[in-house]
Amino acid sequence: MKILAIETSCDETAIAFVECDDGLENPSFTVRAQVVATQIPIHRPFGGVVPSLAKREHLMNLPLVYDEVIQKLKINPPSGGCALKIDRVAVTVGPGLEPALWTGINFAKELAEKLGVPLVGVNHLEGHVYSNWLQSKTIIFPAVVLLVSGGHTVLIRMDGMQKWEKLGETQDDAAGEAFDKVAKMLGLPYPGGPEVEREAVNGNPDAIAFPRPMMHSGDFNFSFSGLKTAVLYNLKANEANEARRADICASFQKAAIDVLVTKTMRAAEENGAQSILLCGGVASNKALAAELKKRAEAVGIYFSAPPMEYNTDNAVMIAAAAYLGHAHPVEKALPNLNI
Ligand code: KG4
Ligand code: ZN
Repeated sequence: MKILAIETSCDETAIAFVECDDGLENPSFTVRAQVVATQIPIHRPFGGVVPSLAKREHLMNLPLVYDEVIQKLKINPPSGGCALKIDRVAVTVGPGLEPALWTGINFAKELAEKLGVPLVGVNHLEGHVYSNWLQSKTIIFPAVVLLVSGGHTVLIRMDGMQKWEKLGETQDDAAGEAFDKVAKMLGLPYPGGPEVEREAVNGNPDAIAFPRPMMHSGDFNFSFSGLKTAVLYNLKANEANEARRADICASFQKAAIDVLVTKTMRAAEENGAQSILLCGGVASNKALAAELKKRAEAVGIYFSAPPMEYNTDNAVMIAAAAYLGHAHPVEKALPNLNI
C-alpha cells in the first residue's frame, strides 16, 4: 500500500510517501520521499511553540513541502508506477495544537479528493508508537511502550499490533516539557531537550540530589512539575555559572531518567513484557535510551527504539500508523483512541 502521510500537529510541517508491505505480521516500510520543514527558528524567540504562528507557517509550508516530495518521487518513483500512484492519504488528526492540526487536515482532504483516494485520520501518539516498526525487526508481545514527547508521557501495554491499554501517564508536565522548561530557566534555547542533554555531558549527575517524584508511587503515573520546581529553587538559591549549569542539567536529566526507567522496568516486570519500546521526541536522549536498553537487556527483555530521525515529529511514522494502527475515515470526527 502506497501511503502519502501528512503531519502538522505541532511545529513541524512534514509529508512522506511510504510503501508499506507484508501486513501486520511482518510489516516492512520503504520511504520513497519525505520532507520535514521545521519551524523551530520561528518559535525560538518565544521560548515555545506559538499556535497562531504554527498555523501560519504550516499554511505556507504545506504546498511547498508537497511539491518537494513530488519532485523527490520523480527521481525515486514508487515501485511499479508513476510518481503519483497513491493508494491513500493519511493525516494526523490529534492530539496536537488545534489550529495546526486543521491546516494538515484541510490540505489532506483537498488532496485526497483531487487524487480520488481514501483519506484516513491517524492518532499522533500511534505514530510515535509504530515508529518502532520502521526498521524491520521482530517485536514480541506483550510489550511495554514508554512514549515520551513534548506533550505526552505515557506507559502502554501492547498485547498485539492493535491491542493495547494505557498503564499510566503524567499527571502534570510531560517529560519533554520538563526538559524544555528547565532549559528556559537556564537561558538555553527552545527546544530545550537537546540543549540540556548537551550541557549534561560536562556535568556531574550526582552533584545535586533532585527529587524523583512518584518513583515509588505504586502506579504507572508520572509527575515532572515538582522536579522542574526543584530546579528553579536551586537556581534561585545559588550563584549561576557555567560549571553549575552543567551540573544542574546532568542532575536534572539523571533524576528524570531514573523515574522513567524505574517505572518502565517495573511495568515490564509486572506485565511479563518480552519487549520494551521507547518512542517520542525524548527518545532522542542518548542517556535515556542507553540506560533503558541496559536495564532491559540485563533481565533478558528485548529493547527497541526507532531510528533516530523518526523520534521527533515526522510524517513517515504517520504512514506507519496508517498501515498498522487504528486509522479511520476522517469524516468520523476527531478520534480519541484512549491513549
Ligand atoms: O515528539 P516530539 O517531536 O513532539 C511532540 O509530539 O511533543 O517531541 C518534542 C520534545 C521536546 O520537548 C524536546 O525538547 C524533546 O522532545 N527532545 C528531547 C531531546 N530531543 C528532543 N528531550 C531530551 N533529550 C533530547 N535529546
Ligand atoms: Zn510528537
